[in-house]
Amino acid sequence: MEGKILIIGAGGQIGSELTVKLRSIYGQDQVIASDINYNNVALVNSGFFEILDAQDFKALKVCCEKHNIKTIYLMAAMLSATGEKYPNKAWDLNTESLLHVLNLAKSKLIDKIFWPSSIAVFGPSTPKENTPQYTIMEPTTVYGITKQVGERWCEYYHQKYGVDVRSIRYPGIISWKTLPGGGTTDYAVEIYHEALKNNTYECFLSEETNLPMLFMDDAIKATVDIMQAKPEDIKIRSSYNLAGISFTPQEIAASVKKQLPGFTITYKPDFRQAIANSWPGSINDTEARQHWNWKHSFDLDAITKEMLDNLK
Ligand code: SER
Repeated sequence: MEGKILIIGAGGQIGSELTVKLRSIYGQDQVIASDINYNNVALVNSGFFEILDAQDFKALKVCCEKHNIKTIYLMAAMLSATGEKYPNKAWDLNTESLLHVLNLAKSKLIDKIFWPSSIAVFGPSTPKENTPQYTIMEPTTVYGITKQVGERWCEYYHQKYGVDVRSIRYPGIISWKTLPGGGTTDYAVEIYHEALKNNTYECFLSEETNLPMLFMDDAIKATVDIMQAKPEDIKIRSSYNLAGISFTPQEIAASVKKQLPGFTITYKPDFRQAIANSWPGSINDTEARQHWNWKHSFDLDAITKEMLDNLK
């Protein structure tokens, strides 16, 4: 591989596991992790690490030149729930960082970009079940708006300037190594932590709220696969629908109960319920499966087993 990889937002839920995976594939010294702070100590101590503000174009450019970066994974973002509290900050972070990276590729300093979009690009007027790749998209969260506009920019930079940018619309991601922060789907991670700690969980979404989800190993696999695919196989340059499984809080609680029979759950929906209600319940990802052979592996009980075994 020519040139190195930079992961922006490497301290986060997905970035931290992506860093480990990419180092195992491309070599320890080929992957530079970066984040805005030193908070993820394990990540900081695991190899090359730079403090980097994704909104600082100059710093980003210097970092790429210093390390001969040719590929960027832009994992820094403010998620849906936090974004509703800080709408302007969410807009600035999520859109400026993407434009910076796209402009680095336009100027040929870097060759390739991964940027995640989200199921949050969809809204209340989108068909709720088996949501197709191409459909009505009227997001009602700031986070969703930034992802939708980001998708437009990705396609634009690809068509106008030949930028090799690749993207996936992640659903909720479930993992045990690093906590998610500020998302509407975070309940599906919290529930396992609370089940082991207190054997009970108060859920901030109602029992029948169905949302698309994916286990981290599947999310990382999808990310690696789309980046390793031949450019001609990436026929969609906005962002690909990606599905694993869909379940409700009630269903995940039942799955936990199979392994922890005394577990109980209560429901106290808060402002995140409205966000969840505006998103699809299930996703049609035919294009990802056809174009670059996407396939998920983990179903709900397999996820529950992995989560409880590892968190113990
Ligand atoms: N997990 C994200 C959120 O809940 C969705 O992309 O905000």
